[in-house]
Amino acid sequence: MKAIHLTDIHLTLSRDNKIFNVNPYENFDFVCEEIYRIKNITDIALIIVSGDITNDGDVDAYKYFFKKMESLKTPYIAILGNHDIKNNFDIALAEEKTQYIINSRQYKNKSWHIISVDTVVEGEDFGFISNNNLAELEREMIENSHFNIAIFMHHHAISVGTPIVDNCMLNNSKELLALCEKHQVKFIGSGHAHTSRIWHHNTMVTSVAPAVVFQWLPGIDTVKISKGFGFNIIDFSSDLSITSCIY
Ligand SMILES: [Fe+2]
Repeated sequence: MKAIHLTDIHLTLSRDNKIFNVNPYENFDFVCEEIYRIKNITDIALIIVSGDITNDGDVDAYKYFFKKMESLKTPYIAILGNHDIKNNFDIALAEEKTQYIINSRQYKNKSWHIISVDTVVEGEDFGFISNNNLAELEREMIENSHFNIAIFMHHHAISVGTPIVDNCMLNNSKELLALCEKHQVKFIGSGHAHTSRIWHHNTMVTSVAPAVVFQWLPGIDTVKISKGFGFNIIDFSSDLSITSCIY
């Protein structure tokens, strides 16, 4: 099964609002065109969007997101990030005709079980998984232990070496990583770091997908960006592989 992992689109209030001279709408439009092209040459079963869909949580930005995602005619999971506003996401979702969004935290195919995890703390940039959500996640891992388990969330769980984002990563990443090791989770995917990074440890792969809007320069602690952007194609086969598509 192949999936596309999009993250950190940061759609602003309108097309005229750029962020650091980057137009997130232009990048997102381009990425959608690319996904459409790639879908015609290889089978894409699922798209996972791991948060910061919008920059400021505007309803119209979510409506734009849903219209574009629906046009791809592929099932998709939308996870929220620290820049998103759940209430506004829900308003847009109720007003738009959506056929392809998966309204469940879980997605199954023959051999993989994909679970999305909420890491957002209202009003904060850092992430945290509540004790209740961790306990529920563990139950889901146990129930589906005969599958290969992949989890997706917004905040990154391993520091990428770039202070501007490592200062606000997943606060209780140790607990999450221990849980994933214990239940032999195969894959953890996230965004938030605006950095493309992959770790292999034992049988687990942890991946941070590149942002759709822009990347932070590696290692910086002030605001400096690269205009490169993109997404990952994850091949969930027995030899898991990741293609980073960068533009
Ligand atoms: Fe974020």
